[in-house]
Amino acid sequence: MQNQKQTVAIVGPKGGVGKTIISANLAIALSKLGKKVIVVDLDLGASNLHTTFGLTAPKYTLDDYIFNKVSKLSEIVQKTDIDNLKIICGGDVPGIANLHYQKKVKLIRNLATLESDFVLLDLGAGVSYNVVDFLIIAQNGLLVTTPDVNSLLNCYSFIKTLIFRRLTFYLRRAKCPELLELLEKAKQTDDHPHLKTMEDFLREARKIDAALAEGAKKILWRFKPTVVVNRIQTANDAKAGETIRKLMRQYLSVESSVTMSIREDQAVRDALANLTPIMLKSPQSKFCKDINKIAQTLYNSEAGN
Ligand SMILES: Nc1ncnc2c1ncn2[C@@H]1O[C@H](COP(=O)(O)OP(=O)(O)O)[C@@H](O)[C@H]1O
Ligand SMILES: [Mg+2]
Repeated sequence: MQNQKQTVAIVGPKGGVGKTIISANLAIALSKLGKKVIVVDLDLGASNLHTTFGLTAPKYTLDDYIFNKVSKLSEIVQKTDIDNLKIICGGDVPGIANLHYQKKVKLIRNLATLESDFVLLDLGAGVSYNVVDFLIIAQNGLLVTTPDVNSLLNCYSFIKTLIFRRLTFYLRRAKCPELLELLEKAKQTDDHPHLKTMEDFLREARKIDAALAEGAKKILWRFKPTVVVNRIQTANDAKAGETIRKLMRQYLSVESSVTMSIREDQAVRDALANLTPIMLKSPQSKFCKDINKIAQTLYNSEAGN
């Protein structure tokens, strides 16, 4: 059976929440399930994915591709010691993530032509369009957060930015300046308290164009973000996912979201100190058990295609 390739963007608005460590070990977990995986370091300017595999000086990086030093993307794909798993290392040039939207689309499309079942994208921190666009283009994403309030609010802001960006694209394509203006207002809820929630926006939008408002609602319905709460230590931490779900439901009309969690685990740091991926060093650790669950979910959703 010909499976559809999955491109999964691993994003998180804050640095240090675990995006890279999750990308690397999820990639190994999927490769252990027999899937061909390419993991790509898109934290351009601050790349460190290769170090989690114990690679110190990558031979080729994305810079070589972006600056046309190599003619084909396949030339910068590097083998790892792990069966089924290849890596594309990130570049060093800061600000390169600021690629034009169309360039990002081209990059993701080209990645999808490489021989693999999964392409995992390890992205940089931030709620800017730089990062958000990669998630929109990839279509699948894991939003990584830690359970502290600050990080959760950042995660919520990220999802909000993502939704507004999607709706902006939709309304631009539909060429409806009036609704675009309303959407801009809805971004500034302090100045426009009657547009505090997405439900408010949809109500006002219906008065302008009922069909387009219905289309916008469908976009929200179909949106199923997967939030990964990493570094869970207490029972209270475990409730963080529910907090985000509630916020999304109440303010953004996002009904169906999935939350998964990963426990805090000393074994992560031990493996890092050893320059060995934890999935190889301590496969029975709490961290790896939680990562395996996420890998299984991705695996199943692929099989279901
Ligand atoms: N579940 C965890 N348990 C213990 N330490 C963790 C866990 N997740 C992340 N860390 C620690 O956080 C650090 C930052 O993780 P990293 O993946 O580099 O974050 P990001 O890519 O989001 O900036 C890791 O080096 C590791 O020490
Ligand atoms: Mg990182």
